[in-house]
Amino acid sequence: MAITVSAAELRELRDEFERFLMEYRFGMQEVETKLGILRDEFQLVHDYNPIEHVTSRVKSPDSLVEKVQRKGVEPDFSSIREAITDIAGVRVTCSFVADAYRLFDLLTAQDDITVLAVKDYIAHPKQNGYKSLHAIVEVPVFLSSGRVDVPVEVQFRTIAMDFWASLEHKIYYKYDTKVPAELLDSLKDAAETAAELDDRMERLHSEIRGGSHVRPPQLRPVAPRPAIQA
Ligand code: GTP
Ligand code: MG
Repeated sequence: MAITVSAAELRELRDEFERFLMEYRFGMQEVETKLGILRDEFQLVHDYNPIEHVTSRVKSPDSLVEKVQRKGVEPDFSSIREAITDIAGVRVTCSFVADAYRLFDLLTAQDDITVLAVKDYIAHPKQNGYKSLHAIVEVPVFLSSGRVDVPVEVQFRTIAMDFWASLEHKIYYKYDTKVPAELLDSLKDAAETAAELDDRMERLHSEIRGGSHVRPPQLRPVAPRPAIQA
Protein backbone atom coordinates (compact mmCIF):
# COMPACT_ATOMS: atom_id res chain seq x y z
CA MET A 1 0.00 0.00 0.00
CA ALA A 2 1.45 3.33 -1.03
CA ILE A 3 1.50 6.11 1.57
CA THR A 4 1.17 9.59 0.17
CA VAL A 5 2.40 12.60 2.06
CA SER A 6 2.49 16.16 0.90
CA ALA A 7 5.76 18.04 0.52
CA ALA A 8 4.76 20.20 3.50
CA GLU A 9 4.16 17.10 5.68
CA LEU A 10 7.49 15.64 4.62
CA ARG A 11 9.25 18.86 5.47
CA GLU A 12 7.55 18.99 8.86
CA LEU A 13 8.63 15.42 9.61
CA ARG A 14 12.20 16.18 8.58
CA ASP A 15 12.24 19.27 10.83
CA GLU A 16 10.86 17.27 13.74
CA PHE A 17 13.50 14.58 13.23
CA GLU A 18 16.25 17.22 13.14
CA ARG A 19 14.97 18.82 16.36
CA PHE A 20 14.78 15.40 17.99
CA LEU A 21 18.42 14.61 17.14
CA MET A 22 19.55 18.13 18.07
CA GLU A 23 18.51 17.57 21.70
CA TYR A 24 20.78 14.53 21.82
CA ARG A 25 23.66 16.51 20.35
CA PHE A 26 23.24 19.11 23.10
CA GLY A 27 23.06 16.40 25.80
CA MET A 28 26.23 14.89 24.42
CA GLN A 29 27.95 18.29 24.46
CA GLU A 30 26.93 18.82 28.11
CA VAL A 31 28.57 15.52 29.07
CA GLU A 32 31.68 16.35 27.03
CA THR A 33 31.95 19.71 28.83
CA LYS A 34 31.65 18.02 32.21
CA LEU A 35 34.40 15.57 31.30
CA GLY A 36 36.58 18.39 29.96
CA ILE A 37 36.19 20.27 33.25
CA LEU A 38 37.10 17.17 35.28
CA ARG A 39 40.15 16.56 33.08
CA ASP A 40 41.41 20.17 33.30
CA GLU A 41 40.78 20.42 37.03
CA PHE A 42 42.50 17.10 37.66
CA GLN A 43 45.50 18.25 35.68
CA LEU A 44 45.66 21.50 37.60
CA VAL A 45 45.03 20.21 41.10
CA HIS A 46 46.61 16.75 40.96
CA ASP A 47 49.09 17.30 38.14
CA TYR A 48 47.63 14.21 36.51
CA ASN A 49 45.37 13.60 33.53
CA PRO A 50 43.06 10.58 34.01
CA ILE A 51 41.58 10.85 30.48
CA GLU A 52 43.44 9.71 27.38
CA HIS A 53 40.74 10.78 24.97
CA VAL A 54 37.02 11.32 24.60
CA THR A 55 35.04 10.51 21.47
CA SER A 56 31.37 11.04 20.91
CA ARG A 57 28.69 10.64 18.31
CA VAL A 58 24.98 11.04 17.74
CA LYS A 59 23.51 8.01 16.01
CA SER A 60 23.06 8.60 12.31
CA PRO A 61 19.43 8.72 11.12
CA ASP A 62 20.05 5.49 9.14
CA SER A 63 21.41 3.60 12.11
CA LEU A 64 18.62 4.91 14.35
CA VAL A 65 15.93 3.79 11.89
CA GLU A 66 17.64 0.38 11.62
CA LYS A 67 17.67 -0.03 15.42
CA VAL A 68 14.04 1.07 15.75
CA GLN A 69 13.07 -1.62 13.25
CA ARG A 70 15.35 -4.30 14.72
CA LYS A 71 14.00 -3.73 18.24
CA GLY A 72 10.38 -3.48 17.05
CA VAL A 73 9.96 -0.02 18.60
CA GLU A 74 6.87 1.97 17.60
CA PRO A 75 8.10 4.55 15.08
CA ASP A 76 7.02 7.66 17.00
CA PHE A 77 9.36 10.06 18.74
CA SER A 78 8.17 9.41 22.27
CA SER A 79 8.51 5.60 21.94
CA ILE A 80 11.95 5.99 20.39
CA ARG A 81 12.99 8.37 23.20
CA GLU A 82 11.92 5.78 25.79
CA ALA A 83 13.36 2.69 24.14
CA ILE A 84 16.61 3.75 22.49
CA THR A 85 19.02 5.17 25.04
CA ASP A 86 22.20 5.22 22.99
CA ILE A 87 21.22 7.91 20.48
CA ALA A 88 23.87 10.10 22.10
CA GLY A 89 27.06 8.31 23.04
CA VAL A 90 30.29 9.42 24.69
CA ARG A 91 33.32 7.17 25.07
CA VAL A 92 35.93 8.01 27.69
CA THR A 93 39.25 6.25 27.24
CA CYS A 94 41.47 6.25 30.30
CA SER A 95 45.00 5.05 30.98
CA PHE A 96 44.04 2.87 33.92
CA VAL A 97 41.07 0.89 35.22
CA ALA A 98 41.01 2.91 38.45
CA ASP A 99 40.65 6.10 36.37
CA ALA A 100 37.67 4.67 34.52
CA TYR A 101 35.90 4.05 37.84
CA ARG A 102 37.02 7.38 39.25
CA LEU A 103 35.61 9.31 36.31
CA PHE A 104 32.40 7.32 36.45
CA ASP A 105 32.07 8.23 40.14
CA LEU A 106 32.86 11.91 39.57
CA LEU A 107 30.45 12.26 36.66
CA THR A 108 27.55 10.32 38.16
CA ALA A 109 27.86 12.09 41.53
CA GLN A 110 27.07 15.47 39.94
CA ASP A 111 23.69 16.59 41.13
CA ASP A 112 22.23 17.48 37.73
CA ILE A 113 23.02 13.99 36.45
CA THR A 114 20.55 11.14 36.86
CA VAL A 115 21.86 7.62 36.43
CA LEU A 116 19.32 5.51 34.58
CA ALA A 117 21.34 2.30 34.27
CA VAL A 118 24.82 0.91 34.78
CA LYS A 119 26.43 -2.14 33.17
CA ASP A 120 29.80 -2.97 34.63
CA TYR A 121 31.45 -5.13 32.00
CA ILE A 122 34.83 -4.49 33.66
CA ALA A 123 33.87 -6.36 36.82
CA HIS A 124 31.72 -8.74 34.77
CA PRO A 125 33.18 -9.06 31.26
CA LYS A 126 30.95 -10.30 28.46
CA GLN A 127 31.35 -13.90 27.29
CA ASN A 128 33.42 -12.78 24.29
CA GLY A 129 35.87 -10.90 26.54
CA TYR A 130 34.42 -7.39 26.09
CA LYS A 131 35.19 -5.02 28.97
CA SER A 132 33.95 -1.48 29.60
CA LEU A 133 31.92 0.36 32.18
CA HIS A 134 28.64 1.62 30.71
CA ALA A 135 26.27 4.17 32.17
CA ILE A 136 23.12 5.66 30.76
CA VAL A 137 22.88 9.09 32.32
CA GLU A 138 20.27 11.77 31.90
CA VAL A 139 21.53 15.33 31.60
CA PRO A 140 19.41 18.50 31.52
CA VAL A 141 19.51 20.68 28.43
CA PHE A 142 17.94 24.14 28.49
CA LEU A 143 16.20 25.12 25.25
CA SER A 144 14.16 28.23 24.46
CA SER A 145 11.09 26.05 25.07
CA GLY A 146 12.32 24.88 28.48
CA ARG A 147 14.29 22.05 30.04
CA VAL A 148 14.61 18.62 28.49
CA ASP A 149 16.43 15.72 30.13
CA VAL A 150 18.44 13.86 27.57
CA PRO A 151 19.79 10.31 27.98
CA VAL A 152 23.43 9.84 27.01
CA GLU A 153 25.29 6.54 26.96
CA VAL A 154 28.74 6.95 28.48
CA GLN A 155 31.33 4.20 28.14
CA PHE A 156 34.44 4.23 30.31
CA ARG A 157 37.32 1.97 29.34
CA THR A 158 41.10 1.72 29.20
CA ILE A 159 43.24 2.11 26.09
CA ALA A 160 43.78 -1.68 26.04
CA MET A 161 40.01 -2.35 26.30
CA ASP A 162 39.39 0.19 23.55
CA PHE A 163 42.01 -1.39 21.30
CA TRP A 164 40.43 -4.81 21.81
CA ALA A 165 36.85 -3.54 21.25
CA SER A 166 37.68 -1.80 18.00
CA LEU A 167 39.42 -4.88 16.61
CA GLU A 168 36.55 -7.14 17.71
CA HIS A 169 34.09 -4.75 16.08
CA LYS A 170 35.99 -4.87 12.78
CA ILE A 171 36.17 -8.68 12.83
CA TYR A 172 32.47 -8.93 13.67
CA TYR A 173 31.60 -6.81 10.66
CA LYS A 174 34.10 -8.47 8.34
CA TYR A 175 32.56 -11.89 9.02
CA ASP A 176 29.04 -10.48 9.02
CA THR A 177 28.51 -11.75 12.62
CA LYS A 178 29.50 -15.38 11.70
CA VAL A 179 32.99 -15.27 13.21
CA PRO A 180 34.93 -18.59 13.06
CA ALA A 181 35.24 -20.31 16.46
CA GLU A 182 39.05 -20.19 16.39
CA LEU A 183 39.01 -16.46 15.92
CA LEU A 184 36.53 -16.09 18.79
CA ASP A 185 38.90 -18.07 21.02
CA SER A 186 41.86 -15.92 19.98
CA LEU A 187 39.86 -12.78 20.69
CA LYS A 188 38.96 -14.02 24.15
CA ASP A 189 42.60 -14.83 24.76
CA ALA A 190 43.61 -11.37 23.54
CA ALA A 191 41.10 -9.80 25.96
CA GLU A 192 42.83 -11.62 28.82
CA THR A 193 46.24 -10.41 27.62
CA ALA A 194 44.87 -6.86 27.43
CA ALA A 195 43.56 -7.17 31.00
CA GLU A 196 46.97 -8.42 32.20
CA LEU A 197 48.64 -5.47 30.51
CA ASP A 198 46.19 -3.10 32.20
CA ASP A 199 47.01 -4.63 35.53
CA ARG A 200 50.77 -4.46 35.04
CA MET A 201 50.72 -0.90 33.77
CA GLU A 202 48.56 0.19 36.69
CA ARG A 203 50.93 -1.43 39.19
CA LEU A 204 53.93 0.19 37.53
CA HIS A 205 52.23 3.54 37.49
CA SER A 206 51.31 3.41 41.16
CA GLU A 207 54.89 2.40 42.03
CA ILE A 208 56.21 5.39 40.10
CA ARG A 209 53.77 7.71 41.84
CA GLY A 210 54.54 6.12 45.19
CA GLY A 211 50.97 5.02 45.79
CA SER A 212 49.72 1.58 46.56
CA HIS A 213 47.94 -0.53 44.00
CA VAL A 214 44.35 -0.34 45.13
CA ARG A 215 41.45 -1.92 43.39
CA PRO A 216 38.55 0.41 42.69
CA PRO A 217 35.69 0.19 45.15
CA GLN A 218 32.73 -1.97 44.22
CA LEU A 219 30.14 0.05 42.40
CA ARG A 220 26.89 0.73 44.07
CA PRO A 221 24.31 -1.17 42.05
CA VAL A 222 21.86 1.17 40.40
CA ALA A 223 18.49 -0.33 39.61
CA PRO A 224 17.78 0.17 35.91
CA ARG A 225 14.37 1.47 34.98
CA PRO A 226 12.42 -1.25 33.19
CA ALA A 227 11.51 1.07 30.30
CA ILE A 228 15.10 1.58 29.25
CA GLN A 229 16.14 -2.05 29.35
CA ALA A 230 16.94 -3.00 25.74
P1 GTP B 1 23.14 -2.21 21.76
O1 GTP B 1 21.69 -2.41 21.50
O2 GTP B 1 24.06 -2.85 20.74
O3 GTP B 1 23.48 -0.76 21.93
O4 GTP B 1 23.52 -2.96 23.09
P2 GTP B 1 22.76 -3.02 24.51
O5 GTP B 1 21.55 -2.17 24.50
O6 GTP B 1 22.61 -4.46 24.88
O7 GTP B 1 23.78 -2.32 25.47
P3 GTP B 1 25.26 -2.69 25.88
O8 GTP B 1 25.52 -1.82 27.07
O9 GTP B 1 25.50 -4.16 26.03
O10 GTP B 1 26.15 -2.19 24.64
C1 GTP B 1 26.16 -0.86 24.29
C2 GTP B 1 27.36 -0.56 23.42
O11 GTP B 1 28.57 -1.09 23.98
C3 GTP B 1 27.35 -1.12 22.02
O12 GTP B 1 26.61 -0.31 21.15
C4 GTP B 1 28.86 -1.11 21.69
O13 GTP B 1 29.31 0.21 21.43
C5 GTP B 1 29.46 -1.53 22.99
N1 GTP B 1 29.57 -2.99 23.09
C6 GTP B 1 28.80 -3.82 23.82
N2 GTP B 1 29.17 -5.09 23.68
C7 GTP B 1 30.22 -5.09 22.82
C8 GTP B 1 31.05 -6.12 22.28
O14 GTP B 1 30.89 -7.31 22.56
N3 GTP B 1 32.03 -5.73 21.43
C9 GTP B 1 32.26 -4.43 21.10
N4 GTP B 1 33.26 -4.15 20.26
N5 GTP B 1 31.50 -3.43 21.59
C10 GTP B 1 30.49 -3.75 22.44
MG1 MG C 1 24.64 0.85 21.02
